[in-house]
Parts: sequence; structure tokens; C-alpha cells
Amino acid sequence: MIQAIVYTSNTSSTEQYARLLGQETGLPVCALTEAKKALNSGTQILYLGWVMAGSIQGYADAARLFQIPMVCAVGMEPDAKQQELREKNGIPQDAALFALQGGYSPDRLHGLQKLMMRMFTGSMVKKLAAKADRTPGEDDLLDLMQHGGSRVSPEKLTVPLKWCREHLGGARHE
Ligand SMILES: Cc1cc2nc3c(=O)[nH]c(=O)nc-3n(C[C@H](O)[C@H](O)[C@H](O)COP(=O)(O)O)c2cc1C
Repeated sequence: MIQAIVYTSNTSSTEQYARLLGQETGLPVCALTEAKKALNSGTQILYLGWVMAGSIQGYADAARLFQIPMVCAVGMEPDAKQQELREKNGIPQDAALFALQGGYSPDRLHGLQKLMMRMFTGSMVKKLAAKADRTPGEDDLLDLMQHGGSRVSPEKLTVPLKWCREHLGGARHE
């Protein structure tokens, strides 16, 4: 039985999604650092982690300790490629994987992370700005990279929530 929602977040968007999912499902929510102390190994959890250079932060650690039938990867892109994320992070085929758009908070980044993102967004902004036939998703990504901001919204959890309803036996965990 799924017992908790566990997350790893750097600038809070993943935490916000975890808490929204917790409100909707009634499952307790905690950060991976707390879960390592509070939950027995082998406990079934839902895992949410932020994406850094394609790697879902904390997932490998969490997967060593817990059973994870569903993962949410929170990144900046609106249409992240799920198969790439699955392969790069070694997520088994029988686990559900959802990619959620978080945001970009340049003011909250420091050191190497700030530098990496400055380089990454710099080249992406140039590429996207020069593209004539941008999709609405690419327009929004361009705006996000130029100005920062949050794209966290409850609507983006519709599909993961449907999965939860199908796998939590219909009853809210209170
Ligand atoms: C160093 C660094 C690398 C990142 N790499 C990616 C990436 O590969 N793909 C992506 O979609 N987002 C990437 N992002 C954006 C974050 O995943 C995004 O801002 C996310 O919302 C952060 O979640 P958080 O607020 O919970 O920390 C990166 C951010 C940083 C700081």
C-alpha cells in the first residue's frame, strides 16, 4: 500500500506539487531527507524530484530504499521527453512516470547551479528567439528563461492524480 509522498526540491516547485498531491490524496508528504529517517526501508511511496541536467534528483537514493510505483520529474520544460527521463534515471518500465513543468528561479540559485543555468538558458534563449515557427509551449519556455517564474499549477497534476485515484483504491488516506 502506498504510504507517503516523498520529494526532493531545490527552489520549492517540486515541494509545491508534492503538497498539492498530498492535499488531493490525503497521503502524508515529506522531504527525502526526513523520509530516510522516518520510513522503513521497503515502504511504498510516490516520489517527486526536480530535474538537473536530465537527472531526477534523489531518485536513485530513494529507489534504493523504497518501493516507488510512480515518479514525477519536475523540470523547466513544458514537454519533457518521458522516455529519455526514464532511461537516464533507470526507472523501471512498470513504474509510472510523469513530467511536470516547475519553473525557473534564477534569484534562488547560487554557485555552480547558477552558472550552469546561465549557460544553458543563454544558448537556449538564442536558439528559440531565432526560431520563426515557435509553438505556444516554446514561446512560454522562452519567456520563462528570460524572466524566470513559476509554472506550477494544480491542473498539471490531472494525469498523475488520475493515476493516484486508480492505485489508491479510491479511498482518501486520512
Ligand atoms: C543546474 C540546473 C540544471 C537544470 N537542468 C534541467 C534539465 O536538464 N531539464 C529541465 O527540464 N530543467 C532543468 N532545470 C530546471 C529545474 O528542474 C526547474 O527549475 C525545477 O522547477 C526546479 O524544481 P524545484 O523548484 O523543486 O527545485 C535545471 C535547473 C538547474 C538549477
